[in-house]
Amino acid sequence: MFTGAFRLVFLLCLLGIVVHAQFRLTLHRRKIGLKSYSEYSTALNQWREQFHRYKTLKATSKILKAADYGKVKLLNHMNAEYYGEIFLGSPPQRFLVVIDTGSSDLWVPSKQCSFFNLACWIHNKYDHTKSSTYHDVGKEMRISYVTGSMVGRIGEEEVRIGGMLLKNQTFAEAIEEPGMTFVFSEFDGVMGLGFSELAEYGSPVHYNMYHQKLISDFVFSIYLNRDEKDSFGGEILFGGTDETKYNKTTLRYVNLTETTFWQFKLDGMKVGDLKIDLDDVLAIADTGASLIIGETEVINKFYTTIGASVDGADAYVDCDKVDQLPPVEFIIGNQAFRLEGKDYIIKVKSYIFWTKCLIGIAGMELGGEEWILGDVFLGRYYTIFNVTEGRIGFADRLR
Ligand SMILES: *[C@@H]1O[C@H](CO)[C@@H](O)[C@H](O)[C@H]1NC(C)=O
Ligand SMILES: *[C@@H]1O[C@H](CO)[C@@H](O)[C@H](O)[C@H]1NC(C)=O
Ligand SMILES: *[C@@H]1O[C@H](CO)[C@@H](O)[C@H](O)[C@H]1NC(C)=O
Ligand SMILES: *[C@@H]1O[C@H](CO)[C@@H](O)[C@H](O)[C@H]1NC(C)=O
Repeated sequence: MFTGAFRLVFLLCLLGIVVHAQFRLTLHRRKIGLKSYSEYSTALNQWREQFHRYKTLKATSKILKAADYGKVKLLNHMNAEYYGEIFLGSPPQRFLVVIDTGSSDLWVPSKQCSFFNLACWIHNKYDHTKSSTYHDVGKEMRISYVTGSMVGRIGEEEVRIGGMLLKNQTFAEAIEEPGMTFVFSEFDGVMGLGFSELAEYGSPVHYNMYHQKLISDFVFSIYLNRDEKDSFGGEILFGGTDETKYNKTTLRYVNLTETTFWQFKLDGMKVGDLKIDLDDVLAIADTGASLIIGETEVINKFYTTIGASVDGADAYVDCDKVDQLPPVEFIIGNQAFRLEGKDYIIKVKSYIFWTKCLIGIAGMELGGEEWILGDVFLGRYYTIFNVTEGRIGFADRLR
């Protein structure tokens, strides 16, 4: 086990924005993938069972009525990262990938990663020489994230996600990875769920699910649990919504302004007596970002209103005062989306014996770039991403 304070960079998106917080993290030694033959064959048998069930379902054209088809359980790391399990290749190689609605490519670390790629040492690595379904596309992919670049080799593979088998999925095996976030992360790679317009190469996984008729409704729904002690970290459901997980009467839709990011107009912000009208501000729904990010000037007014103490890039409140914090409302298309104090606070173990209450809404010099509504916002709602309609539905989540 390894502990140490370092700067965890929260944000995983393409915009060029960084947020830091001083953190203490516990790094668990991880089991590296499926090791023995018996583990492989167990996994394979599980997949076979699921496919069999899927075929039966398809025959009766009731895709998605089954309990688990299309669902991926998520792991929640400190309310800052949500990731799920996927398998690449034949026999399947296992990876944990961040669910990222702020990008559109799939990538995992490569067995052939560079010696200087630290992240690669301690994570699951994809080995194309061990897969019979690998095709080399013969091209390189380079994605600039906030924290650095991912450089990888593009291939096509069979990918297994939530009981579905995707053929010919483009992905990159990363030779270089974007910065320290990936060294200390519990996840191996990234699964982008943005629009295909944003993809560096090929189609994102949800496009292939739809085009290969594994799902009939071009939609996915995300539930992020904000109770980091709960073993149920959250869930993503491809092809539909899980009505047991949200209150239908509270469902509201937001139209997108364009289909690259999941992006819409943000009209204003309200907290206590402070009401801020925002002109020409766009925001994106980004599960790959932990926080809400807004223009510094606006966010500083917000901090003053709630009485937060600001320390460099971070703002805190006394943990005893969280219950007395005023709610904040984000105004989107004449609708108010409200977060209570407990929703916009992230409890951070700063030093061994005490906890700090970090405000999950941070300021950046955005200079007209989009605001980011990350997990702090999305965790409050059950979120329905409908590709066909180009709109997002937000409903109160249950459980
Ligand atoms: C995958 O690619 C192969 C070879 O290009 C092609 O024959 C096959 O039809 C493709 N399958 C799907 C489901 O797109
Ligand atoms: C769903 O929302 C409505 C409207 O806010 C509320 O009256 C109802 O009690 C909620 N139902 C549940 C199960 O929380
Ligand atoms: C969203 O778009 C639909 C269809 O274009 C339109 O009817 C509706 O009024 C829009 N909603 C808002 C809040 O702008
Ligand atoms: C997504 O949009 C399509 C097209 O309007 C619609 O038929 C479908 O019901 C929507 N799915 C969900 C879950 O809202």
